[in-house]
Amino acid sequence: MSFQMRDGVLHAEDVPLPVIADAAGTPAYVYSASAVRTAARRFVEALAPIARKQLLYAVKANPHPAILQTLAGFGFGADIVSGGELQAARAGGIAPADIVYSGVGKTRDEMAAALDAGIGRFNIEHEREGEVLSALACAHGVRATALLRVNPLVDAQSHAKISTALTDSKFGIPYPKAVLMYRRLAALSGLNLEGVAVHIGSQITDLAPLQAAYRRIGTLVAALRAEGHRLSHVDLGGGLGVSYRAGEPGADIAAYGAMVGRETQGWDVSLLFEPGRFLVAQAGVLLTRVLWVKPAQPHPFVIVDAAMNDLARPALYDAWHEFVAVRPRGSERFVANVVGPVCESGDRFAHARAVDRVEEGDLAVLATAGAYGAAMASTYNARALVPEVWVDGDGFDIVSDRVPAARIRPQRLPHWMDAQGLRAAVGR
Ligand code: LLP
Repeated sequence: MSFQMRDGVLHAEDVPLPVIADAAGTPAYVYSASAVRTAARRFVEALAPIARKQLLYAVKANPHPAILQTLAGFGFGADIVSGGELQAARAGGIAPADIVYSGVGKTRDEMAAALDAGIGRFNIEHEREGEVLSALACAHGVRATALLRVNPLVDAQSHAKISTALTDSKFGIPYPKAVLMYRRLAALSGLNLEGVAVHIGSQITDLAPLQAAYRRIGTLVAALRAEGHRLSHVDLGGGLGVSYRAGEPGADIAAYGAMVGRETQGWDVSLLFEPGRFLVAQAGVLLTRVLWVKPAQPHPFVIVDAAMNDLARPALYDAWHEFVAVRPRGSERFVANVVGPVCESGDRFAHARAVDRVEEGDLAVLATAGAYGAAMASTYNARALVPEVWVDGDGFDIVSDRVPAARIRPQRLPHWMDAQGLRAAVGR
């Protein structure tokens, strides 16, 4: 087990969390290497019956190089969406050929850098992007291997902000226009168009929408073949959800593997997968300390030192993360609001929730924070970016430092405005 109670103290693998709090301070993200390995193994095993495939980790979930390198050990390449993620993937030891560039807003510079790096393929989201990529590839003297991202128009039945295949979604080419668009892009001399890609959303726990989307893609593959296109690859995206809350199960990964096997039978392509959350969500917690317990009606506020800038998911998606005391006081619980110090009412991790009783100075964690936690952190309220700690067995290391806001973005006055000038301007 990666995070478990032992002798009344919550541990990350074999390391008591108070030891980590002493070393790194709080708040801090704590990752379990064995949890990453377990999730990777489960994914690989579930898809073992699929003979021709490429596994890609969606770097956006958590770009830490220790995670990338661990996953590379299981054969994962990388799915990236920016030039920064290209650098992260390379820093994590992913070979360029094992990198797929997705995303709706690639810049010309980013595309050129990706071509320079020799990445494996691009997922194209619209016609102009395909034309520009083709021209850039010609200028580089290469052909860019690419897939066309299609919007199958299937509601992922997840949170609206992380559903990507609705009629008004910005992603991909709407299903009814896909054949026409494929025809146009296939004719471009700088592209080597090899198939289609689909991704309908994230935190999907019911497999039915994924199945419906794949079925549509199967129909499209047949239609494109009938037109004479040679398709060799289909990217099935990511999106598999995990359990954030006791009693709410995550996606059944074995059932997913079986469903993919059934739906893609006869496609005669190599399949690509882009899981993010599934591989890392459960491998991380946000370790925090209770600053104050402020009495209030009807429920007290537990004010912790972590905030929405460190873990944005509750504020953005009303996401649930369990709040667990590191040294529970017996089995005592109380109903409380757990909030951070940021000056917004949305800076709230739990609302009127029965949680472990905690007091000033206690340590606690926000669980299941390995995906889209540190990756989405900001310095709002001029708060620091929090450190990350990597735990493997009884060893741990601080693998990123606490960085003050001013160091991340040093700001300066315009050259004509020195401190004196400022006073003069105010005095005018
Ligand atoms: N492929 C594409 C093209 C994507 O857009 C995404 C996620 C993935 C793969 C990986 O999806 P996953 O397996 O992690 O569900 N910040 C949100 C999640 C945003 C997901 C964006 N795209 C959250 O915290 O819930």
